[in-house]
Amino acid sequence: MVERRDVLRLGLTGLALSVPVLSGCGRGPTRGHTLRFDTEAFEELTDTIATAGGDRSVTYRFYRAIPYVAKPVDVACQSLNISVPVAIDAVPVDASRAPILFANSVGGYLPSSTVKATGVGAGGMTGMPGMGAMPPGDPPPDAMAQVGSGGNAMISRAGRMVNNARLALAAGNVVVEPGARGRTLRNDEGAYYGVAPAAIVDLKAAVRYLRANRHKVPGNMDRIVSSGTSAGGALSALLGASADDTLYDEALAAVGAADASDAVFAAAAWCPITDLDHADMAYEWNWGDNPLATGGLVDPLESAQLAGAFAGYQASLGLHGEGVAALTAETLGPYLVESYLQPAADRYLASLPAAERATYLFTHSFIRYVDRRSGFSWADFRAHVGARRKSLPAFDAFDLSAPENNLFGLGKTKARHFTTYSLRKASGDPTAVLDADLPRTLEQMNPMPFLLEGNRARAKHWWLRVGTRDTDTSLSVLANLAAVAAARGDDVDAAMYWDAGHGANEDADDFIAWISRIADA
Ligand code: DHB
Repeated sequence: MVERRDVLRLGLTGLALSVPVLSGCGRGPTRGHTLRFDTEAFEELTDTIATAGGDRSVTYRFYRAIPYVAKPVDVACQSLNISVPVAIDAVPVDASRAPILFANSVGGYLPSSTVKATGVGAGGMTGMPGMGAMPPGDPPPDAMAQVGSGGNAMISRAGRMVNNARLALAAGNVVVEPGARGRTLRNDEGAYYGVAPAAIVDLKAAVRYLRANRHKVPGNMDRIVSSGTSAGGALSALLGASADDTLYDEALAAVGAADASDAVFAAAAWCPITDLDHADMAYEWNWGDNPLATGGLVDPLESAQLAGAFAGYQASLGLHGEGVAALTAETLGPYLVESYLQPAADRYLASLPAAERATYLFTHSFIRYVDRRSGFSWADFRAHVGARRKSLPAFDAFDLSAPENNLFGLGKTKARHFTTYSLRKASGDPTAVLDADLPRTLEQMNPMPFLLEGNRARAKHWWLRVGTRDTDTSLSVLANLAAVAAARGDDVDAAMYWDAGHGANEDADDFIAWISRIADA
């Protein structure tokens, strides 16, 4: 099993050997930008892209480092690249009305920039030399996520890198790769200018830029498909859910976003780290009984308190699953098994040669396998996954050390509590209340309320994926996103990858086919 973590290490090795493809943005000169797209400002590039159908030689126009806001705070982050195919295997392509993959490369809620990329897919991860070697020791966590975000690179079942942006281009789509501010950025005064909601404001501004230039930028602005992984998946889902909501107007005006809609046609998210206000509760509901990687269990009382709070939250969503009366903390486990986990196991087992399948079933005796259908309990599944990635609380750490504490920083304050539970525990004050700005910022960062209220401008097509061994967040996060979008009547393609970890993308070709299917329907 190749975990995303390992791939990030590989990426670091590659980085040392090649160009510094992506990094924190660094502010660059702050000057006004016109927001006019220059149709002639491209280089023509040719690249060989490996697809399921064989290698494709793709010639494309590469428009690099276009500032997408009139008043950038950090132009290296607030810029985008556009790749437009002109020929595939020497056959001319007219992409003027092609779907647009809007592929963010955010990881870890860190800054992302594509301005130094030398081609589609942020010029990096898939083609980097030296991918086989691993540097000694762990790179610092922030560096890991930053490099990992490079080029939209993800992990296939075979442990190879896959890159949605490159595959989408090879299929004749226009590909837009926006950068965005991230939580660690600080200005000369020491203020954190990339904390929430900066990244979603930037992605919205990037979409507005495209639409404001709809008669010049190639591609169909009514067929924008957003994609992202992990924190980038969270932002992709949020972009789809919160489209055109006035909650962001002030922040969009402050950066000089174009006056246009930021709605997208579809939102795709792999392992989205979202619904952060409820993620600690959900995590204990899901992984509370699982041991820590260091051995031992988390505090059972605190775990039970959070899991108990999750039951209230889950009930408040009022969601229903297919054939399930209501999705509650009690029914959700068996629902996940039936709707996601068993189908994932079935697909995995069916893909194995008979002898390997027999071995897998022999060594995983908790799975009953009859007529090519697997059966197991929610408890047995969780025991099978084993160690949880995160301690308690998983997101709002008592000592403010989690990435999300930094995400909800403000001004010169690097990190803050964003849940009442952690705030009260950490401060010892049972009446403590969150800073007054936080409820609004939390709302700006969570796709769930927009979907629950049925935001009319939202994306109506959803592609949602997560690995069943991904303990970066609760599996309920993806299931709830899927259930609420389905409840609104949206077209939802949601599935899990059996035994896969964080950052898995095992059906990239299906995703590319899905783009064509929904765009043409
Ligand atoms: C990411 C992973 C996390 O576990 C998290 O809390 C935030 C972001 C990521 O990989 O982007």
